Amino acid sequence: MSELVALRIENNIAVITINNPPVNALSHGVRVGLSDKIQAAIADDAVQAIVLNASGRTFPAGADVSEFGRPRETPILSQICDLLETSPKPTIAAVHGNALGGGFELALACHYRVVLRSAKVGLPEVKLGVLPGGGGTQRVPRIVGAEAALELMLSGKLISAKHAHDLGLIDKIADEDVDQAAMSMATDVIAAGAKTVPTRDRIEGFQDAVGFANAVAKQRENKKNDPQPSVAKIIDCVEAAQILPFEAGIAMERAAFDECETGPEATAMRHAFFAERRAAKVPELKGAKLRKIDTIGVVGAGTMGAGIAISCLDAGFPVVLVERDQDGLERGVERIVANYDKSVAKKRIDAATGEERLSRLTGTTDMQDLSKVDLIIEAVFEDEDVKRNVFAQLDAVMKPGGILATNTSYLDIDALAATISRPQDVVGYHFFSPAHIMKLLEIVVGEKTDPNVVATGFKLAKKLRKVPVRAGVADGFIGNRVLAAYRLAADFMLEDGASPAQIDAAMRAYGFPIGPYQVLDMAGLDISWARRKRLAATRAPEDRYVTIGDKICEQGWFGQKTGRGYYIHDQDGGPVENPDVLAIIQEERKLLGITPRSFSAKEIQDRCLFAMANEGARLVSEGVALRPSDVDVVLLYGYGFPRYRGGPMMAADQVGLLTVKNALLSWKAEEPRFWEPSPMFDELIKNGRKFSDL
Ligand code: NAI
Repeated sequence: MSELVALRIENNIAVITINNPPVNALSHGVRVGLSDKIQAAIADDAVQAIVLNASGRTFPAGADVSEFGRPRETPILSQICDLLETSPKPTIAAVHGNALGGGFELALACHYRVVLRSAKVGLPEVKLGVLPGGGGTQRVPRIVGAEAALELMLSGKLISAKHAHDLGLIDKIADEDVDQAAMSMATDVIAAGAKTVPTRDRIEGFQDAVGFANAVAKQRENKKNDPQPSVAKIIDCVEAAQILPFEAGIAMERAAFDECETGPEATAMRHAFFAERRAAKVPELKGAKLRKIDTIGVVGAGTMGAGIAISCLDAGFPVVLVERDQDGLERGVERIVANYDKSVAKKRIDAATGEERLSRLTGTTDMQDLSKVDLIIEAVFEDEDVKRNVFAQLDAVMKPGGILATNTSYLDIDALAATISRPQDVVGYHFFSPAHIMKLLEIVVGEKTDPNVVATGFKLAKKLRKVPVRAGVADGFIGNRVLAAYRLAADFMLEDGASPAQIDAAMRAYGFPIGPYQVLDMAGLDISWARRKRLAATRAPEDRYVTIGDKICEQGWFGQKTGRGYYIHDQDGGPVENPDVLAIIQEERKLLGITPRSFSAKEIQDRCLFAMANEGARLVSEGVALRPSDVDVVLLYGYGFPRYRGGPMMAADQVGLLTVKNALLSWKAEEPRFWEPSPMFDELIKNGRKFSDL
């Protein structure tokens, strides 16, 4: 079957089948096909009912995202929905796989819905910065009321067939052949008089009018500070479903959709969506011969090692966990057990699943036990000598063709690889803390790393349900390099007149969950202090260096773990500014003869953001990052960059590269090397291009 939409008549039933692999996206061609075939079926006197289904692995999983942001060619989805709903002959959707977004809206416009038990449905548009635009905001509340409708659309979550059935969104669950079940439903409906049930005429969801209005008011209050415009619009549209005639509600939904679709938030979220997929495309995948990974070893059972082990256990791998002594091992295993206990207590998994996962864990203090594993992930102390030592031991026991991945944050992977006999098997798998939760995985490619090892890493990342991004060897790879620039920009402002709390507040207002100094206090100030000490020898003497962080560390204040850092953490009611730190800052200003000046939130945000984008551009020029969008993916998935801003490179695009470049130049006198715009700005500006075009 090569037609995008096929029509066949079986007895007196028309079967319209969408055939647009891989996910039957509702592209323009599909919409044209649907429109033609639905009209043909309605016009055919031999047809008494219409079944709508899809071939391949799923009912339409949504719109064709590549059509977003451009004028939509007719027929648009809501016109197809109209045809299905106003059909004088009963229309029945037969759903398997995932009916998402426009796909689910198509089903909602049918008179009846039969869904395979394993299928899921949902309206995830909010995750792309838009709202259901095919009548979802009007039809769902008519069936289930405002509370459940808003939950579905504001969370964007998929729900099971059973849940959808309980809510009343679907009429029947099929256990085996959904197409067959839909056919027999069609036969029954015809036999009973071929009754049509247009969703627009349904009123079950309006029975409790006050409850409806209250649910709307409650979510409006909950979401009043949500920066994403589509959130408020979803609430408005659901409210309209109750008070406006159907057609007026649809018109309102259409206008709201159009407004959101081209706005900066939706543009940024679409960018994030595509950037993640693009990041998975790396040159090493071409013609790769993947290495087989059935078992994984983790060396070091500290914060990261334990989290990495959990991540691997969750993905179904047997894991051999190695520590240097019994005490360390016990602590590590305890962490892992505690994690599963918590997951079971919180009902995220059942007890049997927790036990099964733990049963695949073997703890040991003997490196020899790693001789059979296919992949070893090293997560010992961030210390070159310690790591070299561990590498040498692993080199002696590892099987030929095994992969040795290091989780180092900053160390030179090429230098480490050069110390052993198999540099081609060495790669960086840089997880983020907490490793079993954070989605980002930087895959760091060394000079000698075998491309197959890189490709295997990308494959593994999928199994671990991580978002992999390729990085070259550089101090801090992609993420920590950008982070360092962010912190430096913030530190300069600290010295020049801003306070840590002020900078944190400005960055939270921009959309980060917490500000840079809160992050530092959380991660431990000693970690970045160690890095600064390590880099001290190679720092250019003319570079501006802010010593405030060092002075705080010299007091023994390492943040949360010591109760004191930029903030004081030992008080009830959350962290408060540390007055002693403010005194250190003032002292420093005096020493340097700096007259403090004030910074607006906007200037703080601009300086931090443009510093990040500039560093990102440098990383791309140096070949550390393959493309600007990879930098965005790293910041989105590893550093809490707000998704509706799309990442620092996208944010710079939206501000305008000329504006960013001019701002960088205007700050250059303060610190020439740091604020020097990457040559990439000029290259792009002169060609009228943006980072997102690369
Ligand atoms: P940690 O100090 O919590 O854990 C290190 C563990 O390695 C300790 O349990 C220690 O006993 C063990 N260990 C040391 N030498 C060993 C040896 N010879 N054999 C076996 N085990 C040994 O450190 P953390 O934070 O887990 O960091 C580990 C690595 O992960 C470092 O390279 C770090 O830079 C990196 N990393 C850390 C992140 C973080 O947020 N903590 C984030 C990303 C990477």
